[in-house]
Amino acid sequence: MKGLVFTEFLEMVETKFGYEVLDRLTSLPSLKSHGAYTSVGNYPHGEMLKMLDELHGAVGLPQRELILAFAEWLFGTFLKVHPEFFERIDNSFDFLNGIETMIHSEVRRLYPDARLPDFECERRSETELVMDYSSWRPFADLAEGLIRASSQYFNEEVEVIREDGPSADGRSARFTLKKLN
Ligand code: HEM
Repeated sequence: MKGLVFTEFLEMVETKFGYEVLDRLTSLPSLKSHGAYTSVGNYPHGEMLKMLDELHGAVGLPQRELILAFAEWLFGTFLKVHPEFFERIDNSFDFLNGIETMIHSEVRRLYPDARLPDFECERRSETELVMDYSSWRPFADLAEGLIRASSQYFNEEVEVIREDGPSADGRSARFTLKKLN
């Protein structure tokens, strides 16, 4: 997984929970990278899952809540680092519908070693968008958080209905988005 995602995760931990918690996470003996991540490297996502588990132990918040908070943070980073993806787009459905074709395809070109998830999108109507997420990583919660952050960014009220895939391991999920305003 791209180092940017790791370094942002650690940045969020330090900002929201302080240096001691950050230190506890990066000193976990089971981390092969010993918490020394750079934004240009590529790291196993299992290390992030271990740190999430430790973070849950350290601060007592449910893992899902922590990953949703991280998604919101990461969305803010994408906005800063890649403002070009937000130009000329004024609503979340156009933005999300273009993830595969406009955004992640370009990310793949910029970072050829990135392993991105698949999103199959179907625009059912003006007010309904269906997104099928699948990945070799169990990050459906992260996907949900990024979807929610997108609606927030465009100031829209969107109901997000999530159905987990058959394996229920976070590697696939269907998100049905219904615009309420
Ligand atoms: C400007 C916006 C975005 C940029 C620049 C971007 C870029 C990236 C990058 C660099 C990664 C890491 C790839 C790797 O680990 O090798 C990633 C992963 C991911 N992205 Fe995006 N992304 C954007 C928006 C979104 C949005 C809105 C969603 C949700 C619908 C999304 C869903 C995900 C998920 C779930 C992953 C984690 C990897 C996985 O599940 O397999 N991204 N993205």
